[in-house]
Amino acid sequence: MSNSTEKIKKLQDEILKLKDEKDFVLLAHNYQLPEIQEIADFCADSLQLANHAKNDVESQNVLFAAVKFMAESGAILNPSKNVYVANPEALCPMARMAPVDLMKKVKQESPDLPLMMYINTTAAARAQADFICTSANSLKIAKVINKQEINFAPDKNLAYFIQTRLGIKVNPVPITGHCTVHESFKASYITNLKKKHPNAITIVHPECPPEVQQIADFIGSTSQMEKFVKTSDRKEFIVGTEVGLIDKLKRETEGKIFYKAHDKPICYNMKKNTLETINDEHLVKIPEEIAKKNRQLLNDMLKNSE
Ligand code: 13P
Ligand code: SF4
Repeated sequence: MSNSTEKIKKLQDEILKLKDEKDFVLLAHNYQLPEIQEIADFCADSLQLANHAKNDVESQNVLFAAVKFMAESGAILNPSKNVYVANPEALCPMARMAPVDLMKKVKQESPDLPLMMYINTTAAARAQADFICTSANSLKIAKVINKQEINFAPDKNLAYFIQTRLGIKVNPVPITGHCTVHESFKASYITNLKKKHPNAITIVHPECPPEVQQIADFIGSTSQMEKFVKTSDRKEFIVGTEVGLIDKLKRETEGKIFYKAHDKPICYNMKKNTLETINDEHLVKIPEEIAKKNRQLLNDMLKNSE
C-alpha cells in the first residue's frame, strides 16, 4: 500500500467511525472525489440528493459533500434534521449569475411570463421563482408549466436544451449565464475523439453548449448519464461532464471504457470537499422567510418530477 493510499484509508476509517458515533449520514454528489464517493451512504445527482434528504434519511444528522446549494435544499426540505455542509466555501459559481435583484427585475418587467429557475442558485434568489428544476427534471417541469414562452435563470445552455426538446421559447436570464466547467467543452474536441473511437457513444450534461448538445447521443443529468451507461450494451463512452462522474462509472462498471470530452473537466468548487473537510462543523441555516417559499418550490418540484 502506498503512503497516500494508506493516508486515504486511515482518513476514511476515521470518518466511518465518526459517522457511527455521531449518527450522521453522508450524502455526496456525483462530482465528489472518489475517496469521498466510496464512503458516502448515498451518491447521486442533485434531484436524487434532494429527494433522499427529504424522504430516506433515518439519522438525525445529514452531512452533504457537495456544493452549498445542494445542502441548503436538503436543509429546507427536511427541517427536522440537522443538515451540515462539508465545506461552506464550496459554492457553485453559476448561482452568482442569478442575483436576487436581477430575478426581482425579471418578475417586474415580465409579470406574465413564468420564471423557471435552475436549482443551482441561492435560496434567496430562488424565492423569486415560480418553478424550480434540476437538470434531471427540467423537461418535466417545463411541461407542467405548459406555456409557449418562459423565462429561465441562469443557465443559457439548459435553457437551450429545454427550448429545443419542447419546441417552446425559453428566454435565458441573464443571456450569458453558464457553468464555467461545462461551457468549456468543445464540439471539435469531441469530434476528434469520435474519429479516434468510432464505436463510442457520446453522453453529455445539458449544461454543455448547444454545439456539444447537437452532436451528443444522449443528454442528461449526472445520474441519468450513469443509468444510461449501466443499462447500455455499448462498451465505449465519450463523457461530457465533470470527472467525478467518470471516476464513479469506472468504479461501478466492468469492461467499459470512458473518454473525457475535455482534458481537464474539473469543478474546483466540488473539489473543495476533501476527506479532511468531512465533519459536522458547518450547520446549514436559512432564514425561515426564505426557507418557507423555497420549501414550497422544492416540494412542488419533487411532486412534479414523480
Ligand atoms: P446534476 O443535477 O446533473 O447532478 O448536476 C448538478 C451540477 O451541478 C451539474 O454541473
Ligand atoms: Fe456549478 Fe458547474 Fe460545478 Fe456544477 S459543475 S457545481 S454547475 S460550477
